[in-house]
Amino acid sequence: MTAVLDISGLGKTYKSGHQALAGVDLTINKGEIFALLGPNGAGKTTLISIVCGIVTPSAGTVTVGGHDHARDYRAARSMIGLVPQELHTDAFEKVITTVTFSRGLFGKPSDPAFIEQLLKDLSLWDKRNAKIMELSGGMKRRVMIAKALSHEPDILFLDEPTAGVDVELRRDMWNMVRGLRERGVTIILTTHYIEEAEEMADRVGVISKGRLILVEEKDALIKKLGRKTLTLNLADPLDAVPAELAQWNLVLAGEGHELVYEFDSQAEATGVPSLLRRLSDRGIQFKDLHTEQSSLEDIFVGLVHETKTEERAA
Ligand SMILES: Nc1ncnc2c1ncn2[C@@H]1O[C@H](COP(=O)(O)OP(=O)(O)O)[C@@H](O)[C@H]1O
Ligand SMILES: [Mg+2]
Repeated sequence: MTAVLDISGLGKTYKSGHQALAGVDLTINKGEIFALLGPNGAGKTTLISIVCGIVTPSAGTVTVGGHDHARDYRAARSMIGLVPQELHTDAFEKVITTVTFSRGLFGKPSDPAFIEQLLKDLSLWDKRNAKIMELSGGMKRRVMIAKALSHEPDILFLDEPTAGVDVELRRDMWNMVRGLRERGVTIILTTHYIEEAEEMADRVGVISKGRLILVEEKDALIKKLGRKTLTLNLADPLDAVPAELAQWNLVLAGEGHELVYEFDSQAEATGVPSLLRRLSDRGIQFKDLHTEQSSLEDIFVGLVHETKTEERAA
């Protein structure tokens, strides 16, 4: 694996005194889709803004494709496309003009055929001569994406790309991201929609209060931290969980028709066989059973909750 972006010891304290990032180390591999997950205010936009040269770091280094961000900024920046969280474009410009201009800003030779294809891919071609202010919010966002891709960047940052967008644009965005990845583009997206990370990402980083508290392959993360639930559909409903089953911490659901057991699927003794034996001994019969792996959402909520609890304890 080749690193395309290397972030080391990155810190940012704003003039207000607020520390938005504290010692973030992160290496992004060429061609991966990396999802940076974190609640509002965690520092996601600050991190992206530093890499994109909008915010100056208080500490640390950034290397993009081997170019030191501080010493060789233009070369580093030209490898990056950014779709910012906030929409801001020149309202009076035509779509095609602003996208063509963006490409020029990065010193790329003009390529009308490329721009045409880009606008077509983003369903913007019919609107190419419309002024940006005449477009809907969703269309404006498509323009932001076209601008970000206009200079054929190696790395694309999407800062909360689907916050408040409609289903169609979200689907188009996901398809676009997959298409770009096939062409070798590295994608870093921030989101607080777990669903998005779960659907798209190869790796996930969780950021909370300016600290990267975890970086992991998505599948491994789900497997490692994941808990499973076993749900038993009872033949006859129960009024309460029988006292002698207390050690499994069962929950009664479905108006007494379901017994739910949560367990660690990686543990040596999951407690499942012993539970089933005990139920059988007591004559509690079930018609059906199924297990469910906890989602990334459960894991994420658990992690962010844990850091909060630790802070309180400290
Ligand atoms: N220009 C700024 N000046 C002072 N504080 C800021 C500035 N920008 C962001 N912050 C603060 O830094 C923290 C991280 O913000 P941000 O990076 O936007 O988080 P996220 O994108 O994860 O929601 C927040 O507490 C935010 O209020
Ligand atoms: Mg943000």
